[in-house]
Order: sequence, then C-alpha cells, then structure tokens
Amino acid sequence: MKAIFFEEHGDPSVLQYGEMPKPEPPPGWVRVAVKACGLNYLDVFSRRGMAGIKVELPGITGGDCAGVIDALGDGVTDWHPGERVLPIPHHVDWSSGHFDLLGETRRGAMAEYCIVRASQLMCLPDNVPDEKAAALPCAYGTAHRMLHTRGRISAGETVLVLGASGGVGTACVLLAKLAGCKVIAAAGSAAKCARLREIGADETVDYSTTAIDTYIRETTGSLLRGGGVDVVVNFTAGDSWAPSMRCVKRFGRLLCCGGTGGYKAMTDIPYLFMSEMTIVGSTGWTAEDQQACLDMLARGRLDPPIDRVVPLTEGIEAVRALEDRKVFGKIIVKP
Ligand SMILES: NC(=O)c1ccc[n+]([C@@H]2O[C@H](COP(=O)([O-])OP(=O)(O)OC[C@H]3O[C@@H](n4cnc5c(N)ncnc54)[C@H](OP(=O)(O)O)[C@@H]3O)[C@@H](O)[C@H]2O)c1
Repeated sequence: MKAIFFEEHGDPSVLQYGEMPKPEPPPGWVRVAVKACGLNYLDVFSRRGMAGIKVELPGITGGDCAGVIDALGDGVTDWHPGERVLPIPHHVDWSSGHFDLLGETRRGAMAEYCIVRASQLMCLPDNVPDEKAAALPCAYGTAHRMLHTRGRISAGETVLVLGASGGVGTACVLLAKLAGCKVIAAAGSAAKCARLREIGADETVDYSTTAIDTYIRETTGSLLRGGGVDVVVNFTAGDSWAPSMRCVKRFGRLLCCGGTGGYKAMTDIPYLFMSEMTIVGSTGWTAEDQQACLDMLARGRLDPPIDRVVPLTEGIEAVRALEDRKVFGKIIVKP
C-alpha cells in the first residue's frame, strides 16, 4: 500500500512517500481503508521522537482517520466490511497498564490502510463527510475533555485560548462558544485573528504584536481590581506560560494539555498565590468526548474549519505546513 513513512526519527526530511506492507488484522481487529486522515502536532512529535515513547519503525503517523472497514480479523462479528467508521485512536488497558496509540506507538493512517481493534470503532453517520470527521478525534476530543470534564467551563464565563488558530485551538474556540462562553482567541498573525473572528471568537489578540497579559490587563483591569478571565487555555507553554498566568482572574483556572513551545516554563509564583488560581492538566479524551463531538457535527452544531484537503502524495508538504504554523484549523490528507 502507499504510505508516508520514516525509517528513523528526525526533521521532515526523513519522511518518504512509498510502499509499505498492507497490514493484516489479527483476531479481534479490523482493517480500515483510510478515506481521510487528519493531521495533528502529535504527528510532528512522533516523527521527531519523544523521550519514553517507543515508535514502531518504519513509522507511519496519523492517528485520526475516517474510513471504511475493509477486512475483519477472526472473531469480529459486530462489524461488517463496507461500514463507515471513525476509530478512537488510543487503547488503554488499565488492568495491565498497556497503552497504544494509532500513529504514535503503532503505525497510523497516513496510508491507504491501517488496523484497529474492533473495540476502538465508532460508527460514522451517513451525513458526516470523511474530511470533517477526520478533523475530530484528537483535537476536538482533547478540547472537549479539557474544557468540560477537567475545566468545568460554564455559560457566561470568559475563556482565553492561546494558539487558537491550530487544531486544538479552533476546537476550543468552537466548543467554548457552544457552551455559552465569551471567547478571546489569541494567535500569531492578523490574518489568523481575522479567521478566528469569522468562526465566532468575540475578541482576538495577535500575540506577534501585542503581549497577551498587557491586553487582558488593559481590557479587564488589574488582578486586585477584579481583572483577568475565568479560564485560560494554554497548550503552547514555554515563553507563553508566565504571561498567560497573569491573564487568570482571582480563583480562575489555567488549563493545559501540551507544550508546543517548550516544556520548560517560568512560573509567576506571586501571581499564582495572589490569584489563588487552579492549574488543571488534561490529557487525551474518552469515547464519550469523541461521540459528543461527532454528534454535534452530525447535527450541524459544530463545523471544524479545514485549512486544506490534500492527496497522500502531498502529505509530506502538508506536515511541513503544520510544522511551519501555516495552517488554520486542520489539514486533511486523503489517500
Ligand atoms: N495531551 C494531549 O492529550 C494532547 C492532545 C492533543 C494535542 N495536544 C498538544 O496540544 C498542542 C496543539 O496541538 P495541535 O494538534 O492543535 O497543533 P496545531 O494544529 O499545529 O496548532 C498549534 C498552534 O499553536 C501555535 N503555536 C504557538 N507556539 C508555537 C510553537 N512554538 N510551535 C508551533 N506552534 C505554536 C500555532 O499558532 P500561531 O502560529 O498562531 O501561534 C499553531 O497553530 C500540541 O502541543 C499537542 O501536542 C496534547
């Protein structure tokens, strides 16, 4: 089968387009013919290599895919070839401690075919296009868990989202708006900010020209005068961490699911204790999060912005665009 793969970890130059063996589904698994694969920053981290995570080489990234069941492993009786599916990319067995993730610890969907356990399958309704569905699992699932299960956002609260132009970022903007929040979206260019207003952000901050903590202080007031926002979403960390802490109002929450800009970050200790804020970590998502997002998409309440849809032959360029921050929303690759 055709795939985008890498034989060693490294920068995008290690990526190749070519032939890889078509995977055979073991008992209890199915083979999915990939119709659309959604890219995530995780694809970049997996290709570069991450401490403590073993990637099966040659590696194929791509955890998010919409597709059609192509073949059944022995013992699979509840599913049939030809059914449209949106797999849940991760599998956790809490009793044995086993964890695997499509496109990370095992070969993923930047290919014509991938295999998943039957227990990871989710039905894809007929009215949901492959491209939109493939945008959902990692970005929208993660945003849903972070905002709702972990962050407990509620109608009327103000949510500031950093890195709002990316996959998780646009998902946070849309989901927070659907929850009845006021959304301030922060991104790295005026053009991205304009797109964020088009998808519903109430206010935007271009952090390439304006410091976010200055913006929030000037528009809401200082901490001691009741300024700041209820919830800050920060998955870029690095240099953005301390300024983002200074945007949280008294008793507010700072939510974090990643650190694209660096895992080492300065903490503003006085601000932490003066604000009595809560810092909340969030990781991954459940089948319920993914189903909730899929239901919203199927009912027309959620419309993930897609930057572009490209054929698999252009998949390497698509990954480069993601890494170079030249994307708004999601990039979808179609084998
Ligand atoms: N823990 C979990 O389970 C989980 C799940 C999903 C994602 N994540 C993490 O969440 C983060 C976002 O993922 P994503 O797939 O949404 O990525 P993405 O689509 O590439 O979006 C990331 C956005 O972050 C902004 N950004 C700020 N600083 C950056 C930097 N130093 N390098 C690159 N981009 C930077 C960029 O927007 P501007 O150019 O506008 O600044 C970019 O659009 C990643 O760190 C990812 O690993 C974690």
